[in-house]
Amino acid sequence: MTREELLHEAFEAMKNSYSPYSHYPVGACLLTKDGKKYYGANIENASFGLTNCAERSAVFNAYSNGVKKEDIEALAIVSEGPKVAAPCGACRQVLNELLPSNCPIYLSNRKETVTKTIEELLPMSFGPEDVL
Ligand code: THU
Repeated sequence: MTREELLHEAFEAMKNSYSPYSHYPVGACLLTKDGKKYYGANIENASFGLTNCAERSAVFNAYSNGVKKEDIEALAIVSEGPKVAAPCGACRQVLNELLPSNCPIYLSNRKETVTKTIEELLPMSFGPEDVL
């Protein structure tokens, strides 16, 4: 599956966003090495802090279905905001632990797409190696 195809899937997932408060839909799609796709959207709550971001929804969906770190091929995260859909700090921390360090992360707002790794997005991270 190409980067553009995975981004298309993430835009499909964005349609399932529940974002009545921010009006900022975000979608994500995680691809595994065996070609399976796990979708996520941002799901908000009237108690705002309980909101789940799209990329965490997708990664938790994958893990909940038995996917392991080493199975993961790529992750696409999309929005239609003025900038590419850069993950928030909390999501970077989660992605740092649950994605392979060299996993491509495709970020797009339709107008612009960039590819990053979690190491680039979260340098000098704190992770499992610090506590296990
Ligand atoms: N959001 C995501 O889903 N992913 C991000 O990386 C940034 C923020 C969501 C959370 C909230 O529903 C909305 O975007 C506005 O912050």
